[in-house]
Amino acid sequence: MGYNIAIDGPAGAGKSTIAKLTAKQLGFIYVDTGAMYRAMGVFLMRRGVDPADEAAISAECREADITIRYENGEQVVYLNGENVNGVIRTEEAGTMASLTSKNPDVRKKLVELQQRLAADADVVMDGRDIGTCVLPDARVKVYLTAGSAVRAERRYKELTAKGETCDIETIEADIIERDRQDMTREISPLVQAKDAVLIDSSDMTIEEVAEKIMALVKSCRK
Ligand code: DC
Repeated sequence: MGYNIAIDGPAGAGKSTIAKLTAKQLGFIYVDTGAMYRAMGVFLMRRGVDPADEAAISAECREADITIRYENGEQVVYLNGENVNGVIRTEEAGTMASLTSKNPDVRKKLVELQQRLAADADVVMDGRDIGTCVLPDARVKVYLTAGSAVRAERRYKELTAKGETCDIETIEADIIERDRQDMTREISPLVQAKDAVLIDSSDMTIEEVAEKIMALVKSCRK
């Protein structure tokens, strides 16, 4: 098994930015598991599957071949041979991912893929159930969170910087609903692992969070 670092937390807490930066500093591979659930969400959306129809999700998800490749240092998600990096970042794909990720067949398939990736490489993996379920023996576990208003503001700034029109109240309401879905599902809900270190990034810069994680890595390497 490689040296594994697990970063879990709610939507918009800054997991991917921090995980990417930490992976770069350590020369590890960054594995974004949310992107895999998003690719599955896109697949099911394209198939016209009702996210409330568990039997249909279980049957259809077998047809989705999701693989990961690393191109120019970036994780690229392939869905049945198609690079879907450009289509998985919409709010719609995120909502469909959140709704369909509670299905046990979807989780089984993607957790197996994630465990295979971490088996022979040093990884920084982010998601919702990495420290609790995917990599229970990870050397470093972090639960990264921030208040919903702070997360909404960060998202608002990101979207407006891209020229998108949006409303901060709607963004915060969506974040709160996504938290509820991810935290209350029956299988692998988002919860802080007992041995995870809690970092609340509400009043921290990206660099401060990354420094704290690097300090944890150093202390765990001794
Ligand atoms: O991190 P993200 O917003 O890209 O994730 C999209 C959804 O995928 C999230 O709302 C819940 C689901 N997900 C999950 O169930 N388990 C993970 N390890 C990662 C994401």
